[in-house]
Amino acid sequence: MKNILVTGGAGFIGSNFIRYLFNDTDFKGRIVNYDKLTYAGNLANLSDIAEKYQGKRYFFIKGDICDANKVSNTFKKFNIDTIVHFAAESHVDRSILGPEYFIKTNIEGTFTLLKSALNFWKNDKGFRFHHVSTDEVYGSLGARGYFYENTPYDPRSPYSSSKASSDHLVRAYHHTYGLPMTISNCSNNYGPYQFPEKLIPLMILNALEGKNLPVYGDGKNVRDWLYVKDHCSAIWTILEKGKNGETYNIGGECEKKNIEIVKKVCSILEEEKPSSLNPVLDGKKYSDLITFVKDRPGHDRRYAINCDKIKKELGWKQSFDFDLALRQTIRWYIENTDWVKSVKDGSYRKWLSKNYSLR
Ligand code: NAD
Ligand code: TYD
Repeated sequence: MKNILVTGGAGFIGSNFIRYLFNDTDFKGRIVNYDKLTYAGNLANLSDIAEKYQGKRYFFIKGDICDANKVSNTFKKFNIDTIVHFAAESHVDRSILGPEYFIKTNIEGTFTLLKSALNFWKNDKGFRFHHVSTDEVYGSLGARGYFYENTPYDPRSPYSSSKASSDHLVRAYHHTYGLPMTISNCSNNYGPYQFPEKLIPLMILNALEGKNLPVYGDGKNVRDWLYVKDHCSAIWTILEKGKNGETYNIGGECEKKNIEIVKKVCSILEEEKPSSLNPVLDGKKYSDLITFVKDRPGHDRRYAINCDKIKKELGWKQSFDFDLALRQTIRWYIENTDWVKSVKDGSYRKWLSKNYSLR
Protein backbone atom coordinates (compact mmCIF):
# COMPACT_ATOMS: atom_id res chain seq x y z
CA MET A 1 0.00 0.00 0.00
CA LYS A 2 1.48 3.30 -1.10
CA ASN A 3 -1.43 5.58 -1.97
CA ILE A 4 -4.67 5.13 -0.08
CA LEU A 5 -7.88 6.87 -1.15
CA VAL A 6 -10.28 7.27 1.78
CA THR A 7 -13.80 8.24 0.71
CA GLY A 8 -15.83 10.05 3.36
CA GLY A 9 -12.67 10.87 5.30
CA ALA A 10 -14.15 14.06 6.75
CA GLY A 11 -16.92 12.13 8.53
CA PHE A 12 -16.88 10.42 11.92
CA ILE A 13 -15.23 7.06 11.24
CA GLY A 14 -13.27 8.19 8.16
CA SER A 15 -11.53 10.99 10.08
CA ASN A 16 -10.73 8.68 12.98
CA PHE A 17 -9.35 6.16 10.46
CA ILE A 18 -7.08 8.74 8.79
CA ARG A 19 -5.77 9.85 12.20
CA TYR A 20 -5.24 6.18 13.12
CA LEU A 21 -3.19 5.59 9.93
CA PHE A 22 -0.89 8.52 10.72
CA ASN A 23 -0.58 8.04 14.48
CA ASP A 24 -0.98 4.32 15.15
CA THR A 25 0.37 2.38 12.15
CA ASP A 26 3.66 2.10 10.27
CA PHE A 27 2.00 3.26 7.01
CA LYS A 28 4.45 5.60 5.26
CA GLY A 29 2.58 6.42 2.05
CA ARG A 30 0.07 9.08 0.97
CA ILE A 31 -3.55 9.41 2.06
CA VAL A 32 -6.10 11.14 -0.13
CA ASN A 33 -9.31 12.15 1.61
CA TYR A 34 -12.09 12.31 -1.03
CA ASP A 35 -15.22 13.81 0.49
CA LYS A 36 -18.24 15.78 -0.71
CA LEU A 37 -18.56 17.62 2.61
CA THR A 38 -22.25 17.06 3.21
CA TYR A 39 -23.68 18.16 6.57
CA ALA A 40 -21.76 15.17 8.07
CA GLY A 41 -18.38 16.14 6.63
CA ASN A 42 -16.28 18.49 8.73
CA LEU A 43 -12.66 19.32 7.91
CA ALA A 44 -12.15 20.44 11.51
CA ASN A 45 -12.23 16.70 12.33
CA LEU A 46 -8.76 16.51 10.76
CA SER A 47 -7.25 19.93 11.49
CA ASP A 48 -4.36 18.36 13.47
CA ILE A 49 -3.52 16.00 10.60
CA ALA A 50 -3.84 18.70 7.93
CA GLU A 51 -1.52 20.99 9.89
CA LYS A 52 1.18 18.34 10.01
CA TYR A 53 0.85 16.47 6.72
CA GLN A 54 -1.25 18.48 4.21
CA GLY A 55 0.45 18.58 0.80
CA LYS A 56 3.11 16.11 1.95
CA ARG A 57 1.40 12.85 2.83
CA TYR A 58 -2.21 14.06 3.31
CA PHE A 59 -4.36 15.50 0.52
CA PHE A 60 -7.97 16.61 0.55
CA ILE A 61 -10.15 16.54 -2.56
CA LYS A 62 -13.66 17.92 -2.33
CA GLY A 63 -15.62 15.57 -4.54
CA ASP A 64 -18.75 13.51 -4.89
CA ILE A 65 -18.35 9.74 -5.34
CA CYS A 66 -21.12 10.02 -7.97
CA ASP A 67 -18.80 12.21 -10.12
CA ALA A 68 -17.10 9.62 -12.35
CA ASN A 69 -14.65 12.08 -13.94
CA LYS A 70 -13.44 13.49 -10.65
CA VAL A 71 -13.10 10.02 -9.12
CA SER A 72 -11.12 8.74 -12.15
CA ASN A 73 -8.88 11.81 -12.25
CA THR A 74 -8.15 11.42 -8.54
CA PHE A 75 -7.21 7.76 -9.01
CA LYS A 76 -4.82 8.75 -11.80
CA LYS A 77 -3.38 11.85 -10.16
CA PHE A 78 -2.42 10.00 -6.96
CA ASN A 79 -1.82 6.56 -8.51
CA ILE A 80 -4.19 5.01 -5.98
CA ASP A 81 -3.64 1.34 -5.06
CA THR A 82 -6.00 1.03 -2.08
CA ILE A 83 -9.52 2.40 -1.63
CA VAL A 84 -11.19 2.47 1.76
CA HIS A 85 -14.79 3.39 1.05
CA PHE A 86 -16.58 5.05 3.98
CA ALA A 87 -18.54 7.74 2.11
CA ALA A 88 -22.25 7.28 2.69
CA GLU A 89 -25.40 8.80 4.01
CA SER A 90 -25.32 7.11 7.40
CA HIS A 91 -28.28 8.01 9.60
CA VAL A 92 -31.36 5.76 9.74
CA ASP A 93 -33.74 8.56 10.84
CA ARG A 94 -32.71 10.74 7.89
CA SER A 95 -33.19 7.76 5.55
CA ILE A 96 -36.79 7.47 6.77
CA LEU A 97 -37.43 11.16 6.09
CA GLY A 98 -35.57 11.37 2.77
CA PRO A 99 -34.37 8.12 1.21
CA GLU A 100 -33.34 9.74 -2.11
CA TYR A 101 -29.90 10.86 -0.95
CA PHE A 102 -29.25 7.34 0.37
CA ILE A 103 -30.05 5.72 -2.97
CA LYS A 104 -27.93 8.28 -4.80
CA THR A 105 -24.79 8.18 -2.66
CA ASN A 106 -24.82 4.70 -1.17
CA ILE A 107 -25.88 2.79 -4.29
CA GLU A 108 -25.08 4.98 -7.32
CA GLY A 109 -21.99 6.43 -5.66
CA THR A 110 -20.56 3.01 -4.81
CA PHE A 111 -21.36 1.84 -8.35
CA THR A 112 -19.49 4.84 -9.83
CA LEU A 113 -16.53 4.19 -7.58
CA LEU A 114 -16.46 0.51 -8.59
CA LYS A 115 -16.62 1.32 -12.32
CA SER A 116 -13.76 3.80 -12.00
CA ALA A 117 -11.73 1.41 -9.83
CA LEU A 118 -12.15 -1.38 -12.37
CA ASN A 119 -11.02 0.87 -15.24
CA PHE A 120 -8.02 2.01 -13.26
CA TRP A 121 -7.04 -1.33 -11.71
CA LYS A 122 -5.31 -3.05 -14.68
CA ASN A 123 -4.64 -6.29 -12.77
CA ASP A 124 -2.16 -4.65 -10.43
CA LYS A 125 -1.52 -7.29 -7.77
CA GLY A 126 -1.44 -4.95 -4.80
CA PHE A 127 -4.77 -3.26 -5.62
CA ARG A 128 -7.64 -3.44 -3.12
CA PHE A 129 -11.15 -1.98 -2.79
CA HIS A 130 -12.22 -2.17 0.86
CA HIS A 131 -15.91 -1.47 1.38
CA VAL A 132 -17.07 -0.36 4.83
CA SER A 133 -20.56 -1.59 5.62
CA THR A 134 -22.91 -2.21 8.50
CA ASP A 135 -24.41 -5.09 10.46
CA GLU A 136 -27.83 -3.56 9.70
CA VAL A 137 -27.84 -5.36 6.32
CA TYR A 138 -28.59 -8.61 8.21
CA GLY A 139 -31.91 -7.33 9.57
CA SER A 140 -33.13 -7.60 13.15
CA LEU A 141 -32.58 -10.35 15.74
CA GLY A 142 -34.87 -11.67 18.44
CA ALA A 143 -33.66 -12.19 21.99
CA ARG A 144 -31.09 -14.80 20.93
CA GLY A 145 -28.65 -15.40 18.06
CA TYR A 146 -25.95 -13.49 16.23
CA PHE A 147 -25.13 -12.13 12.79
CA TYR A 148 -22.49 -14.22 11.00
CA GLU A 149 -20.77 -13.42 7.69
CA ASN A 150 -23.11 -15.89 5.96
CA THR A 151 -26.34 -14.67 7.59
CA PRO A 152 -28.81 -13.93 4.75
CA TYR A 153 -29.36 -10.25 4.07
CA ASP A 154 -32.68 -8.86 5.34
CA PRO A 155 -32.33 -5.03 5.41
CA ARG A 156 -35.36 -3.17 6.71
CA SER A 157 -34.69 0.58 6.55
CA PRO A 158 -33.90 2.70 3.48
CA TYR A 159 -30.40 3.14 4.99
CA SER A 160 -29.70 -0.55 5.47
CA SER A 161 -31.26 -1.45 2.10
CA SER A 162 -28.99 1.03 0.34
CA LYS A 163 -25.95 -0.36 2.17
CA ALA A 164 -27.02 -3.93 1.32
CA SER A 165 -27.27 -2.95 -2.36
CA SER A 166 -23.79 -1.46 -2.25
CA ASP A 167 -22.40 -4.66 -0.65
CA HIS A 168 -23.98 -6.74 -3.44
CA LEU A 169 -22.45 -4.48 -6.10
CA VAL A 170 -18.98 -4.77 -4.54
CA ARG A 171 -19.26 -8.58 -4.50
CA ALA A 172 -20.60 -8.57 -8.08
CA TYR A 173 -17.57 -6.58 -9.27
CA HIS A 174 -15.32 -9.15 -7.63
CA HIS A 175 -17.09 -12.25 -8.93
CA THR A 176 -17.83 -10.92 -12.41
CA TYR A 177 -14.77 -8.80 -13.21
CA GLY A 178 -12.23 -9.99 -10.65
CA LEU A 179 -11.85 -6.63 -8.85
CA PRO A 180 -9.85 -7.32 -5.66
CA MET A 181 -12.00 -6.42 -2.69
CA THR A 182 -12.83 -6.99 0.95
CA ILE A 183 -15.94 -5.98 2.89
CA SER A 184 -16.43 -5.35 6.59
CA ASN A 185 -19.83 -5.25 8.30
CA CYS A 186 -19.59 -3.42 11.55
CA SER A 187 -21.79 -2.73 14.58
CA ASN A 188 -22.62 0.68 16.14
CA ASN A 189 -19.57 2.89 16.65
CA TYR A 190 -19.05 5.58 19.27
CA GLY A 191 -16.17 7.95 20.01
CA PRO A 192 -14.89 11.47 19.29
CA TYR A 193 -16.04 13.50 16.25
CA GLN A 194 -19.39 11.66 15.89
CA PHE A 195 -22.09 13.98 14.56
CA PRO A 196 -24.66 14.65 17.32
CA GLU A 197 -27.56 13.04 15.51
CA LYS A 198 -26.54 9.52 16.62
CA LEU A 199 -27.60 8.16 20.01
CA ILE A 200 -24.50 8.66 22.19
CA PRO A 201 -23.34 12.18 21.16
CA LEU A 202 -26.95 13.38 20.97
CA MET A 203 -27.58 12.26 24.56
CA ILE A 204 -24.32 13.79 25.84
CA LEU A 205 -24.91 17.20 24.27
CA ASN A 206 -28.65 17.35 25.00
CA ALA A 207 -27.97 16.50 28.66
CA LEU A 208 -25.29 19.20 28.97
CA GLU A 209 -27.76 21.73 27.52
CA GLY A 210 -30.61 20.61 29.79
CA LYS A 211 -32.69 19.35 26.85
CA ASN A 212 -34.84 16.22 26.80
CA LEU A 213 -33.14 12.87 26.14
CA PRO A 214 -35.54 11.24 23.64
CA VAL A 215 -35.59 7.44 23.98
CA TYR A 216 -37.52 5.73 21.18
CA GLY A 217 -40.26 3.24 22.12
CA ASP A 218 -39.61 1.23 25.30
CA GLY A 219 -35.82 1.82 25.17
CA LYS A 220 -35.16 -1.92 25.09
CA ASN A 221 -33.77 -2.11 21.56
CA VAL A 222 -30.28 -3.59 21.69
CA ARG A 223 -27.15 -2.48 19.83
CA ASP A 224 -23.61 -3.91 19.94
CA TRP A 225 -21.25 -1.01 20.72
CA LEU A 226 -17.74 -0.70 19.28
CA TYR A 227 -15.24 2.05 20.09
CA VAL A 228 -14.29 3.76 16.83
CA LYS A 229 -10.55 3.15 17.30
CA ASP A 230 -11.21 -0.60 17.54
CA HIS A 231 -13.08 -0.31 14.23
CA CYS A 232 -10.08 1.48 12.71
CA SER A 233 -7.65 -1.21 13.89
CA ALA A 234 -9.94 -3.90 12.45
CA ILE A 235 -10.02 -2.22 9.02
CA TRP A 236 -6.25 -1.82 9.08
CA THR A 237 -5.90 -5.53 9.97
CA ILE A 238 -8.12 -6.44 7.01
CA LEU A 239 -6.06 -4.23 4.67
CA GLU A 240 -2.87 -5.89 5.84
CA LYS A 241 -3.98 -9.49 6.23
CA GLY A 242 -7.51 -9.91 4.84
CA LYS A 243 -8.07 -12.34 1.97
CA ASN A 244 -9.22 -11.08 -1.41
CA GLY A 245 -12.97 -11.55 -1.85
CA GLU A 246 -13.71 -12.09 1.85
CA THR A 247 -16.19 -10.45 4.21
CA TYR A 248 -15.38 -9.83 7.88
CA ASN A 249 -17.83 -8.94 10.64
CA ILE A 250 -16.54 -6.43 13.21
CA GLY A 251 -18.28 -6.02 16.57
CA GLY A 252 -17.70 -4.81 20.08
CA GLU A 253 -19.22 -7.92 21.70
CA CYS A 254 -20.85 -5.34 23.94
CA GLU A 255 -24.63 -5.54 23.73
CA LYS A 256 -26.59 -2.85 25.55
CA LYS A 257 -30.21 -1.76 25.64
CA ASN A 258 -30.61 1.89 24.58
CA ILE A 259 -32.02 2.85 27.96
CA GLU A 260 -28.93 1.36 29.68
CA ILE A 261 -26.71 3.54 27.47
CA VAL A 262 -28.69 6.69 28.21
CA LYS A 263 -28.65 6.03 31.97
CA LYS A 264 -24.90 5.35 31.85
CA VAL A 265 -24.27 8.60 29.96
CA CYS A 266 -26.24 10.43 32.68
CA SER A 267 -24.36 8.80 35.55
CA ILE A 268 -20.91 9.45 33.99
CA LEU A 269 -21.93 13.06 33.34
CA GLU A 270 -22.91 13.42 37.03
CA GLU A 271 -19.29 12.53 37.89
CA GLU A 272 -17.58 14.51 35.12
CA LYS A 273 -19.79 17.65 35.17
CA PRO A 274 -22.27 17.42 38.06
CA SER A 275 -25.78 18.62 37.24
CA SER A 276 -25.81 20.51 40.56
CA LEU A 277 -23.06 22.79 39.16
CA ASN A 278 -24.63 23.12 35.71
CA PRO A 279 -26.94 26.17 35.80
CA VAL A 280 -29.06 25.11 32.79
CA LEU A 281 -30.18 22.00 34.70
CA ASP A 282 -32.04 24.25 37.14
CA GLY A 283 -31.92 21.76 40.03
CA LYS A 284 -32.71 18.70 37.89
CA LYS A 285 -30.48 15.66 37.55
CA TYR A 286 -29.39 14.60 34.06
CA SER A 287 -31.49 11.44 34.36
CA ASP A 288 -34.62 13.58 34.94
CA LEU A 289 -34.30 14.60 31.28
CA ILE A 290 -34.94 11.05 29.98
CA THR A 291 -38.16 11.13 27.92
CA PHE A 292 -39.73 8.14 26.20
CA VAL A 293 -40.98 9.21 22.76
CA LYS A 294 -42.84 7.63 19.82
CA ASP A 295 -40.89 4.73 18.35
CA ARG A 296 -38.90 4.98 15.10
CA PRO A 297 -40.90 3.38 12.23
CA GLY A 298 -39.61 -0.13 11.49
CA HIS A 299 -37.19 0.10 14.45
CA ASP A 300 -34.89 -2.98 14.39
CA ARG A 301 -35.05 -4.69 17.77
CA ARG A 302 -31.62 -6.19 18.28
CA TYR A 303 -28.25 -6.29 16.52
CA ALA A 304 -25.47 -8.60 17.73
CA ILE A 305 -22.32 -9.47 15.82
CA ASN A 306 -20.34 -12.67 15.86
CA CYS A 307 -16.80 -11.56 14.96
CA ASP A 308 -14.94 -14.85 15.50
CA LYS A 309 -13.75 -14.89 11.87
CA ILE A 310 -11.62 -11.74 12.03
CA LYS A 311 -10.38 -12.77 15.48
CA LYS A 312 -9.38 -16.31 14.52
CA GLU A 313 -8.22 -15.77 10.93
CA LEU A 314 -6.58 -12.35 11.20
CA GLY A 315 -5.73 -12.11 14.91
CA TRP A 316 -7.67 -8.87 15.57
CA LYS A 317 -9.35 -8.13 18.88
CA GLN A 318 -10.97 -5.15 20.59
CA SER A 319 -8.70 -3.19 22.98
CA PHE A 320 -11.17 -0.76 24.57
CA ASP A 321 -13.38 -1.37 27.58
CA PHE A 322 -16.88 0.10 27.08
CA ASP A 323 -17.18 2.01 30.37
CA LEU A 324 -13.73 3.59 30.05
CA ALA A 325 -14.09 4.44 26.36
CA LEU A 326 -17.56 5.92 26.95
CA ARG A 327 -16.12 8.08 29.74
CA GLN A 328 -13.28 9.20 27.42
CA THR A 329 -15.85 10.02 24.74
CA ILE A 330 -17.95 12.05 27.19
CA ARG A 331 -14.84 13.95 28.33
CA TRP A 332 -13.98 14.65 24.68
CA TYR A 333 -17.40 16.27 24.12
CA ILE A 334 -17.08 18.28 27.37
CA GLU A 335 -13.57 19.49 26.55
CA ASN A 336 -13.87 20.20 22.81
CA THR A 337 -16.15 23.19 23.19
CA ASP A 338 -15.11 24.89 19.93
CA TRP A 339 -15.90 21.78 17.86
CA VAL A 340 -19.20 21.29 19.66
CA LYS A 341 -20.20 24.94 19.33
CA SER A 342 -19.44 25.11 15.60
CA VAL A 343 -21.37 21.90 14.94
CA LYS A 344 -24.32 22.95 17.10
CA ASP A 345 -24.66 26.49 15.68
CA GLY A 346 -23.83 25.41 12.13
CA SER A 347 -20.83 27.75 11.86
CA TYR A 348 -18.63 24.87 10.58
CA ARG A 349 -20.85 25.00 7.47
CA LYS A 350 -20.34 28.75 7.09
CA TRP A 351 -16.58 28.33 7.17
CA LEU A 352 -16.81 25.49 4.68
CA SER A 353 -19.20 27.31 2.36
CA LYS A 354 -16.74 30.20 2.07
CA ASN A 355 -14.17 27.74 0.79
CA TYR A 356 -16.27 25.13 -1.00
CA SER A 357 -19.68 24.94 -2.64
CA LEU A 358 -21.99 22.88 -0.46
CA ARG A 359 -25.30 21.25 -1.24
P1 NAD B 1 -20.73 10.05 8.62
O1 NAD B 1 -22.12 10.38 8.22
O2 NAD B 1 -20.17 10.63 9.88
O3 NAD B 1 -19.72 10.50 7.45
C1 NAD B 1 -19.98 10.27 6.10
C2 NAD B 1 -18.97 11.06 5.27
O4 NAD B 1 -19.22 10.76 3.88
C3 NAD B 1 -19.11 12.57 5.44
O5 NAD B 1 -17.82 13.15 5.58
C4 NAD B 1 -19.77 13.03 4.15
O6 NAD B 1 -19.42 14.35 3.77
C5 NAD B 1 -19.23 11.99 3.16
N1 NAD B 1 -20.12 11.83 1.99
C6 NAD B 1 -21.48 11.66 2.00
N2 NAD B 1 -21.94 11.57 0.74
C7 NAD B 1 -20.85 11.66 -0.08
C8 NAD B 1 -20.67 11.61 -1.48
N3 NAD B 1 -21.73 11.47 -2.32
N4 NAD B 1 -19.42 11.70 -1.99
C9 NAD B 1 -18.35 11.85 -1.17
N5 NAD B 1 -18.46 11.93 0.18
C10 NAD B 1 -19.69 11.82 0.72
O7 NAD B 1 -20.64 8.48 8.62
P2 NAD B 1 -19.84 7.48 9.58
O8 NAD B 1 -20.63 7.24 10.78
O9 NAD B 1 -18.43 7.95 9.67
O10 NAD B 1 -19.90 6.14 8.71
C11 NAD B 1 -18.89 5.85 7.73
C12 NAD B 1 -19.21 4.53 7.06
O11 NAD B 1 -19.30 3.49 8.02
C13 NAD B 1 -20.55 4.53 6.33
O12 NAD B 1 -20.39 3.82 5.11
C14 NAD B 1 -21.50 3.78 7.27
O13 NAD B 1 -22.50 3.11 6.54
C15 NAD B 1 -20.52 2.80 7.92
N6 NAD B 1 -20.90 2.35 9.27
C16 NAD B 1 -21.11 3.28 10.26
C17 NAD B 1 -21.41 2.84 11.54
C18 NAD B 1 -21.62 3.82 12.68
O14 NAD B 1 -21.94 3.41 13.78
N7 NAD B 1 -21.45 5.12 12.48
C19 NAD B 1 -21.52 1.48 11.81
C20 NAD B 1 -21.30 0.57 10.77
C21 NAD B 1 -20.97 1.02 9.51
P1 TYD C 1 -28.53 5.47 16.04
O1 TYD C 1 -27.39 6.11 16.77
O2 TYD C 1 -29.37 6.32 15.16
O3 TYD C 1 -27.92 4.22 15.24
P2 TYD C 1 -28.68 3.01 14.45
O4 TYD C 1 -30.08 3.38 14.23
O5 TYD C 1 -27.90 2.96 13.16
O6 TYD C 1 -28.50 1.79 15.29
O7 TYD C 1 -29.49 4.79 17.12
C1 TYD C 1 -29.02 3.82 18.02
C2 TYD C 1 -30.23 3.31 18.79
O8 TYD C 1 -30.73 4.38 19.61
C3 TYD C 1 -31.39 2.89 17.90
O9 TYD C 1 -32.03 1.75 18.50
C4 TYD C 1 -32.32 4.09 17.93
C5 TYD C 1 -32.09 4.67 19.30
N1 TYD C 1 -32.25 6.14 19.41
C6 TYD C 1 -33.07 6.69 20.40
O10 TYD C 1 -33.70 5.97 21.19
N2 TYD C 1 -33.18 8.04 20.48
C7 TYD C 1 -32.52 8.88 19.63
O11 TYD C 1 -32.67 10.13 19.74
C8 TYD C 1 -31.66 8.29 18.63
C9 TYD C 1 -30.90 9.18 17.67
C10 TYD C 1 -31.55 6.93 18.57
